[in-house]
Amino acid sequence: MNDQLIIFDTTLRDGEQSPGASMTRDEKVRIAKVLERMRVDVIEAGFPVASPGDFEAVKAVAETVTESIVCGLARAVEKDIDRAAEAIKPAKRGRIHTFIATSPIHMEHKLRMTEDAVLERAVQMVRRARQYTDDVEFSAEDAVRSDIDFLCRVFEAAIDAGARTINVPDTVGYSIPQMWGERMKTLIERVPNSDKAIWSTHCHNDLGLAVANSLAAVLNGARQVECTINGLGERAGNASLEEIVMAVRTRRDVFQCDTRIDTTQIVPASRLVSNITGFPVQPNKAIVGANAFAHESGIHQDGVIKKRETYEIMRAEDVGWSANRMVLGKHSGRNAFRQRLKELGIEFRTEQDLNTAFERFKDLADKKHEIFDEDLQALVTEADLEQENEHYRLVSLKVCSQTGEVPYATITLAVNGGEKQSGAEGSGPVDASFKAIERIAGSRGTLLLYSVNNITSGTDSQGEVTVRLEKGGRIVNGHGADTDIVIASAKAYLNALNKLIVPAERTHPQVGQPI
Ligand code: KIV
Ligand code: ZN
Repeated sequence: MNDQLIIFDTTLRDGEQSPGASMTRDEKVRIAKVLERMRVDVIEAGFPVASPGDFEAVKAVAETVTESIVCGLARAVEKDIDRAAEAIKPAKRGRIHTFIATSPIHMEHKLRMTEDAVLERAVQMVRRARQYTDDVEFSAEDAVRSDIDFLCRVFEAAIDAGARTINVPDTVGYSIPQMWGERMKTLIERVPNSDKAIWSTHCHNDLGLAVANSLAAVLNGARQVECTINGLGERAGNASLEEIVMAVRTRRDVFQCDTRIDTTQIVPASRLVSNITGFPVQPNKAIVGANAFAHESGIHQDGVIKKRETYEIMRAEDVGWSANRMVLGKHSGRNAFRQRLKELGIEFRTEQDLNTAFERFKDLADKKHEIFDEDLQALVTEADLEQENEHYRLVSLKVCSQTGEVPYATITLAVNGGEKQSGAEGSGPVDASFKAIERIAGSRGTLLLYSVNNITSGTDSQGEVTVRLEKGGRIVNGHGADTDIVIASAKAYLNALNKLIVPAERTHPQVGQPI
């Protein structure tokens, strides 16, 4: 049996279907670059027909990524396939992923189509996709609740029509591991041309079983797993990439296969996705949670000091937690700065970009004694944010906050080449700052989320703030980082406003929409 397990990452498509996790084109490209560095085999970059913004994002990823296959999703509809084909055209290797529902409940109530019509449509659309690329994937949506005989017929026909990958989704997160493994085994055994395709599994986490179900499918012959960073995804999420990859790597003895993933990129990718989407990672999350490698009990600590393997089955540094965390300081030079960023996989396009980032680093080093990898990553993210459509920019912020007094913020913003000033009271310094900004911007956006995380430990740490705003059904996430969390909050609010101002780049993708 083939011993390579293909990792198909759908953070940018199914992950983005998490309410509130919408990403801009530039953010998607940033995540795609990290996925490529991680050696993800396939990056599903979006659903091009959903909106012009989605189309542009898939196209931008296809233009940027060269090492991974770039995939666009399409319902089994002509216009979807044509749009996906157009979006992936610049890719060195592009895939079209087309799907149609096969369960009685979906066919009767959503599609209003008979089994024969669904089968016929699947065949036609796989053939159409094959006119654009040799790399076509076919999915039977809601395979978990589909009749097994019908599934076998659809998959056989899709392979005959030219699908190279057959994906079996548990769309609603209904299965349990033993049944899911059994289903994969039965399909591979019963579909007569099953050896002409790679079998793939795509599980949702409604019962908390997405990873377990995916692994059961792997044990029964699946050689592609569809997953997302941090398990982000529709409702309770998708199977988490980091858990799948590390389970297979750590228990190769059981799985008899492995991935190409560079696991040291896992923690940076997790941080970036969490930062961009504003979805924090719970501390006890396997692999990427802050406590995943922390030993609290004395007995465990003693054991680990004597021999690490007594209590650790994986090494923290193998998944990207840096052992030597203090990296640079005030006296570090430009070369050390460039070298450390290079080690983190961040390179500058021009000397000018490097110089600008280095100046920011020096400013930060003046405020903060020790600079960690996480600070460097935040610094580069900040620089990227500033390049994105800056309509409003923070010039200065003064906040008076005193026991027994109402906090008051005075703010100056650069707006379209000029400067505007305003002031407001609030229930706290952050509230006052946001109100002062709104006096200038008058956005009438609704604040859905405000969160602050310390990037590293210690009270001199930078605070990383996410602000989620909604207006007219559109949701955006703004980010800001600073050693002063009120300033970080103002920056995050302005970043969100700058995104809201850009004409609706995308609407929320509607994968389940009838054909
Ligand atoms: O969950 C699902 O069925 C999907 C398909 C589009 C593969 O995301
Ligand atoms: Zn899905």
